Amino acid sequence: MSQREHKTVEQAQAEGKYIRTVRSFVKREGRLTKGQAHALENFWSEMGLNHEDGMIDSKALFGNDNPVTLEIGFGMGKSLVEMAKNAPDINFIGIEVHRPGVGACIALAQEKGVKNLKVYEHDAIEILADCIPEQSLTTVQLFFPDPWHKKKHHKRRIVQPEFVETIRQKLKVGGVFHMATDWENYAECMLEDMQTAPGYNNLSETNDYVPRPDSRPLTKFEQRGHRLGHGVWDLQFARAE
Ligand SMILES: C[S@@+](CC[C@H](N)C(=O)[O-])C[C@H]1O[C@@H](n2cnc3c(N)ncnc32)[C@H](O)[C@@H]1O
Repeated sequence: MSQREHKTVEQAQAEGKYIRTVRSFVKREGRLTKGQAHALENFWSEMGLNHEDGMIDSKALFGNDNPVTLEIGFGMGKSLVEMAKNAPDINFIGIEVHRPGVGACIALAQEKGVKNLKVYEHDAIEILADCIPEQSLTTVQLFFPDPWHKKKHHKRRIVQPEFVETIRQKLKVGGVFHMATDWENYAECMLEDMQTAPGYNNLSETNDYVPRPDSRPLTKFEQRGHRLGHGVWDLQFARAE
């Protein structure tokens, strides 16, 4: 892995390089609770992964050859920890930019005795580019990504044709990209991007959405969506080639 690939956006920009600046998130400087700070301080060496360490080798990381599920934007990590707890024979990697969320996820994983989960505190776009080998993932999960409601902000949505192709390359053939959203317009855009992307098969019997799989626990954002009377749309596409 060359040095160049591990530079941060800020370093590259300082050298005058053109780098994607439209990001899917706005960094919020939320304060850490005592529990989150304690978890980050004490368990980062066990559960944390660092962008600057470059490409991962999941066998070395987890000490086994189990399939790997990657979750992008896990929020506070409640559903990710629950999934990892329920599936000890799958290795989970979570990526989240919001530090309190990462702390909360680590704290909960420790409380529940979860050993098959590691996390990044970083932009998923850079982690995908620099740390995740091609054809290495069995599942990629993207649950309730920020919907960026206004049309002028749609370019900030993480699901874009280029992103969809990056995910395809990281999946093993047959591996599944699973998305869920409670924002109808985003669901329609996701569906269109996925249907027009080469190399995917829609797992929906009706060629659009799938019923919510039992394996996906209710997330905080989904519960909120239900309260607000929103629908929820799940999409599952498998890498075909
Ligand atoms: C609407 S929240 C949903 C959280 C969680 N999946 C849930 O359903 O409760 C979207 C999350 O994605 C994170 N996020 C957005 N863009 C990201 C990126 N490029 N890399 C990592 N995390 C990102 C945000 O920080 C936020 O926590």
